[in-house]
Amino acid sequence: MVQRTVSRLIPAIEVTEGAGVTVHRTIGTPALKSLDPFLMLDHFGSEDPDDYIAGFPDHPHRGFITFTYMLDGHMEHRDSMGNRGDLRAGGAQWMKAASGVIHSEMPKQTQGRMRGFQLWINLPATEKMSDPAYQEFSPEAIPEVQEAGRRVRLLAGEYAGQRGVVDDPNTDVRYLDVALDANVAFSLPLPVGQVAFLYVYEGNARVGATALPRHHLAVLAEGDAVELLAGAEGARFILVAGHPLKEPVVQYGPFVMNTREEIEQAFADYREGRLVRKKAAMTGA
Ligand code: CO
Repeated sequence: MVQRTVSRLIPAIEVTEGAGVTVHRTIGTPALKSLDPFLMLDHFGSEDPDDYIAGFPDHPHRGFITFTYMLDGHMEHRDSMGNRGDLRAGGAQWMKAASGVIHSEMPKQTQGRMRGFQLWINLPATEKMSDPAYQEFSPEAIPEVQEAGRRVRLLAGEYAGQRGVVDDPNTDVRYLDVALDANVAFSLPLPVGQVAFLYVYEGNARVGATALPRHHLAVLAEGDAVELLAGAEGARFILVAGHPLKEPVVQYGPFVMNTREEIEQAFADYREGRLVRKKAAMTGA
């Protein structure tokens, strides 16, 4: 086995998104523009309503998947497919924007802690203009594996013979949320060729000799396994891995395509009301 080491540590930078929401971004920053097939990782987390109350009013996406995982709090989702979703603590939402979705994500709370992650996963050229799709998972729907000193929630991919709630055939994405007690180790085989990262959001941990500070993205070097050891406070982290698409990426804000012409087309379609090809039936209710 070749244990993966940490090849890069990317500190999160604060970014204002939506109507004035503060998020901590690692993938999708000048230090790490993308990590094929991952385009963006935002960690939102605050007990101050001023940081989240404005929410994310209607905005478009085209060409990729947004995968949202709520740790704390309550958000309401509405989209141009006609979906209305409730995102609660421990739940997740998989939205394949593909050819185009307009949606809003608004807080359903006026106080207390709001915390979670949004990951953007790229789609291959052959799927960028396919039909959008939406899946939502309640906290109870997400499989959880309990072992001595470890709790692993499976959002995507396999762990200990169980499978997460979503499968992405293009990238074979794996997404685990792991909680470790103090000084407990966690190891996992990771296929050679997969891009993988860790993000510690509570406590502390290390991979080999490298300490993983909180709110840093730790990009893993090539290898076929990873081993992580929690520190004296224990640790909570996400582990995400997937196969790179190895295609050209041209991104402009909420549109991620393969060429500049396709981006210009996305803007034109949005401006002219053609971004959403399949509109939800409007009942006027
Ligand atoms: Co969005």
